[in-house]
Formats: sequence, structure tokens, C-alpha cells
Amino acid sequence: MKALSNKVAVITGGNSGIGFATARRFVAEGARVVIVGRRPDAVAEAAEALGEQAIGIAGDVAALETHDRVATFVRERFEAVDIYMANAGGIRIQPGAAVSPDDYDAQFDTNARGTFFGVKAIVPVMRDGGAILLTSSIATHKVLGGHAVYAGSKAAIEAFARSWSLELKQRRIRVNVLSPGPTATPIIGKLGVPPEAQRDVEEQAAGIIPFGQMGTAEELAEAALFLCGEASGFITGVNLAVDGGMTLT
Ligand SMILES: NC(=O)c1ccc[n+]([C@@H]2O[C@H](COP(=O)([O-])OP(=O)(O)OC[C@H]3O[C@@H](n4cnc5c(N)ncnc54)[C@H](OP(=O)(O)O)[C@@H]3O)[C@@H](O)[C@H]2O)c1
Repeated sequence: MKALSNKVAVITGGNSGIGFATARRFVAEGARVVIVGRRPDAVAEAAEALGEQAIGIAGDVAALETHDRVATFVRERFEAVDIYMANAGGIRIQPGAAVSPDDYDAQFDTNARGTFFGVKAIVPVMRDGGAILLTSSIATHKVLGGHAVYAGSKAAIEAFARSWSLELKQRRIRVNVLSPGPTATPIIGKLGVPPEAQRDVEEQAAGIIPFGQMGTAEELAEAALFLCGEASGFITGVNLAVDGGMTLT
């Protein structure tokens, strides 16, 4: 039997990078997966690539109606959900002095607010014994240039996870955090790095990681599978760094 047979999973930011690789991994393990993402075309394309076990829902996680729509869909289509991965996230790298209120709000709205209200909406339709996984970043522990607002928004969700772990213990819903180090995904292009310069950026990042290479979305997906599956059934409230040792430096 596959690890996620008969499980229903919702993954935000599931059309790209770590979220998409995780959706593919979950589908391979037998799960039915709902991916939620911002751009309708990209979400539809990703859902098609994942095959008939996947369904796409377009919506901005910063908008609360998205989460209501997702929860209603899950209840009507599947009755309940077993796994929720709040993974959608965005970053703008800039020194603190350059941060505008709009820059600040954009990152907190997606990363912190989007995660908080996503979980709040899904918990009532989650089966007891379910798993919640929040994608944070090693930037909450390791000071990286220009990451103050991003790191603050991710630190918030780590605090949410610790509270929820205890709030949801009676229902045996586990809440854990996945903290990627630098990982080769489309997020690099979204930072404004032109395609011809992406290799340089990746090589620079690799140079400061003890393992000498960036992580891959598939490596993060493997860790997500562990934290959302029965193999981690006695683990709640942890923050797992998947970073080739970068937080040690
Ligand atoms: N890659 C890294 O080095 C790294 C390191 C540490 C942490 N992380 C975290 O890992 C998570 C996944 O990132 P990734 O590297 O896989 O990047 P990615 O490929 O850009 O994926 C991010 C996903 O989140 C979606 N998203 C962003 N803002 C959204 C919003 N307001 N509403 C709905 N969806 C939204 C994106 O949609 P679009 O495709 O439409 O933009 C995309 O599907 C993020 O939370 C990120 O902060 C990444």
C-alpha cells in the first residue's frame, strides 16, 4: 500500500517549485491533491501535469475568501482533508531602509496572514489525526542580507505552529514546520534575477552551503512527505531545516 493511499491533501503554492514537487510526490504515494495558487493559467497547467488525482483552485492566499472557497470545495468533494501544507510564499530582498509599507504588507499578507487564515479555515474540515505543514525558511534563524521583513513574516508562522500544535493535540492533528535553505526553484526568477544570471546566483548560494549545492524541490518534497505521513506520527511542533547544513555556518 502506498504511503498516502486514501488521503486528501491541500497544498498552497502547489503550482510551482517546492509545492509542485510535493504535490507530485503526494500523488505518486496515492493521495488526491488540491493545489491552490495565484495565477489561474499556471494552476490549471500544473493540475493537468499532475494528472487525474489533482485539482487546481486559483486564488490569492492573502484574500480570506480563497480559504473559505477551498474549505467548502474540500467538504463538498471529499468530505474532509487529511493534509494541509501552507506553502505559498513570497519574498522581496531589500535593506530595511528601503522597505515601504506596501512591501511589508505584501510579504506579511501572503506569508503570515495567508498561512494563519488558511489553517483557521481548513481545521474544521480536517479529519482527526491529520497533518498540517507550514513552509518557513532558515532565514528566521540565520541572518541573511535584505531578509528582515521576509524573516519576520516566516518567524510569525513558526510561532503559530507551536501554538496550534498544542491547541490541536486533542484531535491528534500534528503541526510541523519545514524550513528550506536556498533551493533551486522559480522563486529566483521572481526576485527579478534575469534568466542568464540565475546560474551565477545559484553558484553563489551553493558556495555558502556546507554540502556545496542548493537544495532541490524534490529533496524538500521528500521531507514534506515524511512530516505529513504516518512515519512522523509522533512528531508535532518541530521545525525541520532542510538546508545542506547552512544553519550551522
Ligand atoms: N526556494 C528557496 O530558496 C526557499 C527558501 C526558503 C523558503 N522558501 C519558501 O518555500 C515556499 C515555496 O517557495 P518556492 O521556492 O517553491 O517558490 P515558487 O516556485 O515561487 O513557489 C511559490 C508558490 O507560492 C505561490 N504564491 C505566492 N504568493 C501567493 C499568494 N499571495 N497567493 C497564492 N499563491 C501565492 C506562487 O504562485 P505564483 O507561481 O503565481 O507566483 C507559487 O505557486 C515559499 O513559502 C518560500 O518562501 C523557499
